[in-house]
Amino acid sequence: MSLLRASTITTIVLATAPSLPALADVPSPVDGYRPDERAAIYALSPLPAPPRDSSNRVAADARAARLGQYLFFDLRLSGNGKISCATCHQPGRAFTDGRPVSLGLATGTRNAPTLIGVRANHWFFWDGRADSLWSQVLQVVESPIEMGGDRSHVAQTIYHDAPLRQAYEAVFGYMPPLADAARFPRRARPDPDGQSEPAQAWRAMAAADRKAVDRVFSNAGKAIEAYERLLVGGNSPFDRYVAALRSADHGRKTALSRAARRGLQLFVGAAHCSLCHSGPGFSDGEFHNIGLPQRPGSEPDGGRADGIRKVIANPFNGIGAYSDDPTGTAKDRLEFLPPPDPQLGKFRTPTLRNVALTGPYMHDGRFNTLPEVLAFYASGKAADSEPMVGQREQTLDLIPHLTPRQISDLIAFLGTLTDAPLPPSVIRRARAP
Ligand code: HEC
Ligand code: HEC
Repeated sequence: MSLLRASTITTIVLATAPSLPALADVPSPVDGYRPDERAAIYALSPLPAPPRDSSNRVAADARAARLGQYLFFDLRLSGNGKISCATCHQPGRAFTDGRPVSLGLATGTRNAPTLIGVRANHWFFWDGRADSLWSQVLQVVESPIEMGGDRSHVAQTIYHDAPLRQAYEAVFGYMPPLADAARFPRRARPDPDGQSEPAQAWRAMAAADRKAVDRVFSNAGKAIEAYERLLVGGNSPFDRYVAALRSADHGRKTALSRAARRGLQLFVGAAHCSLCHSGPGFSDGEFHNIGLPQRPGSEPDGGRADGIRKVIANPFNGIGAYSDDPTGTAKDRLEFLPPPDPQLGKFRTPTLRNVALTGPYMHDGRFNTLPEVLAFYASGKAADSEPMVGQREQTLDLIPHLTPRQISDLIAFLGTLTDAPLPPSVIRRARAP
């Protein structure tokens, strides 16, 4: 739908531009933008309705969201009872953790992205190794460096907490008989080669019981997705500015400083940022290699190449047994994945909404500040002597050398992308599930 609309705009611009060369050159007296710039600006705001997730039939269910909100802040999801989702996705920091890379049970290798507006994506994580928000959750919970939990423990926690169990059963139906300790160990998770107790306990379980636990585990993920889908931004100074432009409300157009307006013009124009940071989410949702040199001493990160292999192998993906629509759009998307190898070193274009609040930046948090990010783009290519994972995309050559003033204009513009605060009811720990 939004794709259709965007391409219609492009067609109109392309079709009319050659016959109206004069118009394209002369700033319009109304607001100083050429028609093509105006179309490019309108493509960035307002936020559209989110894509549906047919793989999760409770994605829009309010009771599921309430349960998910409770679980999001629940320390019991982790192996040591000390880490919740909110440890690394803190509501007060636009759902990031302010660290270069996250610290869970161990130090990770990636930066924690914001969850505001996350529902607009089709692929999750920097490398897109999850194809739904609910399956994303399951990976973090069991990751030994993040929450170090296990699926049995999640199911048991819900089962043995009366209000939680009641909330779960109201949404998903009766739970399996998890109190039967002979069939359902307290801690169990698959790990084919693992010798840990939970890995051995999992192997000892009956196949049907493992499926029952997997079902509860995936449902917990689905409830958390329903909550995450409420984390919606919008109404940033930039959104208000675009609304004013659309309605020719001259008074409110000063919502953006002159510097920010120059930055906006660069962003959609000469600096070519909106080639990738496109649409109202300021991301094309795709994966790119922007030529960040590999950092000395760090392991090479394959990025999307690894992400593709992992999402195909994941039993909780959109075509798996726990998807509520295994033949739907998830199937198309998984079937049309490109071959992994050329995707080496690519990462998903991050949103730029709330970017002033979400530093440090890049998949590995290598830049602490926006001036550092812009200095990277401004300097063009990394030196040939610097090792890289994969190949830098040629599109980046379109970005001209940026002057210090252009850099500060772009940063002023990025500062206008901070969304209005979310309602308090959505960002706090719920007292009951
Ligand atoms: C130890 C810190 C930590 C914890 C705890 C944590 N996350 Fe994350 N989260 C991260 C990091 C780091 C990434 C990026 C990892 C990557 O891309 O490889 C991430 C990525 C995500 C993403 C993908 C965002 C996107 O734009 O693709 C979502 C959604 C998410 N986390 C939700 C959750 C939920 C829900 C929980 C709780 C079940 C959780 N996280 C727990 C650190 C954490
Ligand atoms: C070819 C696509 C592409 C273009 C063009 C592009 N970006 Fe990016 N941008 C990305 C990708 C991909 C990343 C993440 C890279 C990574 O972490 O490996 C990124 C990261 C960023 C970040 C860090 C955000 C965060 O949360 O970590 C900022 C800020 C940013 N870009 C701004 C810009 C600006 C300003 C321009 C124009 C001068 C621009 N980008 C042009 C693809 C692009």
